[in-house]
Amino acid sequence: MTMRSLCAAGGILTLAGLTHAQDAAPGAAERPRPDAQARQIERQMTPDEHVRLTHGIMALPVVPNTVIPPDALLGAGYVEGIPRLGVPALKETDASLGVAYVNGARHDGATPLPSGLASAATFDPSLAYDEGAMIGKEAWRTGFNVMLAGGVDLARDPRNGRNFEYLGEDPLLAGTLAGETVRGIQDQHVISTLKHFALNDQETGRQILSSNISEAAARESDLLAFEIAIGHGRPGAVMCAYNQVNGHYSCDSDFLLNQVLKGDWKFPGWVMSDWGAVPSLETALHGLDQQSGDQIDQAVFFGQPLLQAAKDDSHYRARLADMNQRILRSMLTVGVIAHPPVKTPIDFDADAEVARKAAEQGIVLLVNRGDILPLSKTATSIAVIGGHADVGVISGGGSSQVAPPDGPAAVVPMGGDSALDQMLRRVVYHPSSPLKAIRAADPAAQVRFYDGAYPAAAAKLAASSDIAVVFVTQWMAEGNDAPDLSLPQGQDELIAAVAAVNPHTVVVLETGGPVLMPWRDKVAAVVEAWYPGARGGEAIAGVLFGDVNPSGRLPITFPASLDQLPRPEIPGWGRMTSGFETASQTSAKGFGVDYNIEGSDVGYRWYARQGLTPLFPFGYGLSYTQFSHDGLEVVGGDTVSVSFSVTNTGGREGIDTPQVYLRSGPQGARERLLGFSRVDLKPRETRRVTLTVDPRLLADWDVDAHNWHLDAGDYKVAVGQSAANATLAQTVSIQGRRLAP
Ligand code: BGC
Repeated sequence: MTMRSLCAAGGILTLAGLTHAQDAAPGAAERPRPDAQARQIERQMTPDEHVRLTHGIMALPVVPNTVIPPDALLGAGYVEGIPRLGVPALKETDASLGVAYVNGARHDGATPLPSGLASAATFDPSLAYDEGAMIGKEAWRTGFNVMLAGGVDLARDPRNGRNFEYLGEDPLLAGTLAGETVRGIQDQHVISTLKHFALNDQETGRQILSSNISEAAARESDLLAFEIAIGHGRPGAVMCAYNQVNGHYSCDSDFLLNQVLKGDWKFPGWVMSDWGAVPSLETALHGLDQQSGDQIDQAVFFGQPLLQAAKDDSHYRARLADMNQRILRSMLTVGVIAHPPVKTPIDFDADAEVARKAAEQGIVLLVNRGDILPLSKTATSIAVIGGHADVGVISGGGSSQVAPPDGPAAVVPMGGDSALDQMLRRVVYHPSSPLKAIRAADPAAQVRFYDGAYPAAAAKLAASSDIAVVFVTQWMAEGNDAPDLSLPQGQDELIAAVAAVNPHTVVVLETGGPVLMPWRDKVAAVVEAWYPGARGGEAIAGVLFGDVNPSGRLPITFPASLDQLPRPEIPGWGRMTSGFETASQTSAKGFGVDYNIEGSDVGYRWYARQGLTPLFPFGYGLSYTQFSHDGLEVVGGDTVSVSFSVTNTGGREGIDTPQVYLRSGPQGARERLLGFSRVDLKPRETRRVTLTVDPRLLADWDVDAHNWHLDAGDYKVAVGQSAANATLAQTVSIQGRRLAP
């Protein structure tokens, strides 16, 4: 029976209302609201149906003993629906960087976005929304109604193997952009998660470690990023993480799930587990609503065991009703029932434009000695070296891996024989060749390519060229952290050899995060292109030749050495080979990661607190023009309002990203990003910027009083072009007050 015939039969109370749940048309107000509708559907469920939505499989044939239901799509997850009640199956795909390819199991490609750090470097919430809308639409047109997107774990360690999926080290920046991406996705009637809740800040031993941190520090940093993102994006679901927090598994943490997320933040959606992250049935009482990838856990706790528990125990009974209502509520609110996905052709060219724009805006110009960039289009000879620049641009590995519509330009196996290695340890290059784009940008130039295998051969080519552009890559992937911050495979030596013979050496970094750059003072220019996605080659060439004026700003501090980090050695390093090993598969003992060392002073705040000078600070990035700031006015009272003028003092149109920082409060020195803006200005144009600060960013979390405490007194506020550079500053007085969580 189809939806339509069920409706016509009129026997199913829920359907008529469901079909129009999203309508804002006159009369909509009289229709039952999502909460009431969700309750209404839940109450019609039979006992077996009550545990239908509460668990799902990993829908991949590579997982042993997996039967893929006929209506499932190969993807990260599948949760069976209840057709009798008009409830569709949940078809889940990864996510943050586009519709994931599930490592070759599915053959339909999708548009790969640049990495999360590249998107964060745009400091542009509206672009984040567009990126979300683009990938959400592709998911919907591929048949998915859930995206496991919204990665917002803070970059506490620059070696974290998944930093490239996330949005940097600051809660305001990461939370705002993650929320906007989620909003973009959900506007396509595809539910988005926000993940991984919480403090999944390193991959080494992620399934056996405990992130240890005081409540106040967590609330002012990692949890704040989630809180801000939820405010912006209203995600239908939150995914709890693999790791423990203060000794409790995230998916079993009453504190995180019941008290903070559902209690303090009043999150009305559902909590789904990460894949294989459910330790027991009791997690249901501690706030988990859905067991994902259930065949990877020790048992399908949220199937028959949950049903039995609900028969025997009223606490489980109440929870089971609540779990279903939460899942249904999100399905109704986002519109996955009223607007089911329809497999439809995708306009990949149009979608690639979104990826191109994000890459262009996210590329960060780090060094530009003697204004060597932009290259003039009359160069007689350019050596392009390394990084597979002849075929494409690198991408990051793991569950977020996307394959472009016509397949990768190159796939390089990284070793390992296990099925997991075959699936996940493969470096994928997207077919957007920087070499071709450079040739297209300057057709008159003699452009020669060398793959960079031998530094001496690279130097020979560079010595006979006017300009040498060296492309270097750092592959990062889920499950593994980088051992250090050196470029792998001798690429630091490659750059040094080229720079030694050619003073016009330009380095293009395609990295998952910060690297150390021992050659920094020997090269003429450094461009951080991250993993630049579907049109990365074109975006890089655009910046090199000045068709794009770079405007990206670092969303993560680049350290000068490993000694500067709160934990110079990655905790657990050497004990675990891979973050994919579960507690039951490894003989390694669990360990704690002490995040109280830096507390809420993540990234730039740590550098300020310790008086350290990084290689490049958070918020830093050059342009081909210059900007000045003046006319600062700061108003105090309940919170801080800041206004100032930005002027383009150079000769080209360009985008400035002025940032507002707290420098001190009544308790002393204090470093926090309070706001940012992007201002596109023509030469000599001036624009006034006004920002009102979210008071939580000025406040401290008071554990005993259970609220935010804004101390009365003087707050020093600075405007600058990075965390380390203040152009204007002023002190203002604020009234003391308390803010509810
Ligand atoms: C990752 C999640 C992902 C899930 C499903 C897990 O290993 O941590 O981010 O969504 O797999 O693929």
